[in-house]
Amino acid sequence: AVQLRGRDFIGLVDYAPEEIQYLIELAVELKRKHKAGEAYQPLKGKTLGMIFEKSSTRTRVSFEVGMYQLGGHALFLSKNDLQIGRGESIHDTAQTLSRYLDGIMIRTFAHRTVIELARAATVPVINGLTDLSHPCQALADYQTIYEKKGRLQGLKVAYIGDGNNMVHSLLMGAAKLGVNFAVATPEGYEPDEEVLRQCKESAAKAGATIYVGADPKEAVADADVIYTDVWASMGFEAEQKEREIAFKNYQVNDELVKYAKKDFLFMHCLPAHRGEEVSEGVIDGPNSVIFDQAENRLHAQKAVMAAIL
Ligand code: CP
Ligand code: NVA
Repeated sequence: AVQLRGRDFIGLVDYAPEEIQYLIELAVELKRKHKAGEAYQPLKGKTLGMIFEKSSTRTRVSFEVGMYQLGGHALFLSKNDLQIGRGESIHDTAQTLSRYLDGIMIRTFAHRTVIELARAATVPVINGLTDLSHPCQALADYQTIYEKKGRLQGLKVAYIGDGNNMVHSLLMGAAKLGVNFAVATPEGYEPDEEVLRQCKESAAKAGATIYVGADPKEAVADADVIYTDVWASMGFEAEQKEREIAFKNYQVNDELVKYAKKDFLFMHCLPAHRGEEVSEGVIDGPNSVIFDQAENRLHAQKAVMAAIL
């Protein structure tokens, strides 16, 4: 049986395919229980601290509600109000918080901040988004695809747009779960090379393919899922104008989705910019599952917390 108690959840790279599969199955089961009104409170008396260095709607609310539903308690900690905002080290913060809390979730800029926090903390640390990755979102997204399509292995996901944190985690999830993945980005906005190398290694083991190119039509060809994300992520707002130019041929719209399978799913982690990375017709159309994804953040993260805390 899969045993994850005490583990950090920093990247899907650290999880074996069967562990990710286990978390998805658990998420589906916790969702069923919740909808049936069956209480499941394995985290009674436990507390999760949530450090935020960036804005959040979904992550903040789904973690707080999820912890409550599991019988525990969550604390919202804004970086500006913590002493880290005044220069206290990550190390001392991690050591101190570990004396009070049973787990720490952190949303921050530099990925190494999470690594440093996890090294110094004596309780599990969860990555709530960094500039490198967003594993909670990817886990919820593969749960969503699994629920909608009834399987994962052998499907094709196409990602159009910025080679950012989101595509890194989606790629890693695909590589571990045997999902074929195609990325189309403008030149200069490709996914990180080291992440790609790791993903290709895992994909080879799972018998899945990874394609990275510049042509959205080629990426979308025969896809089961089309995914996109904002052109300028948090921290890149100053590049908005130049990115609008670089990405202008990378909008997911009615013309592009014609190349996908008829029953494709449109996915977006949200928040979205309608009229930029995706047309209104597609994001609000019949193939869009964006709010199922948002909902599954709750169930997927409950699975992570129930498993590791
Ligand atoms: N998708 C996501 O992480 O949303 P928030 O930024 O609102 O948490
Ligand atoms: N790539 C986006 C995801 C937001 C959930 C960002 O980092 O801003």
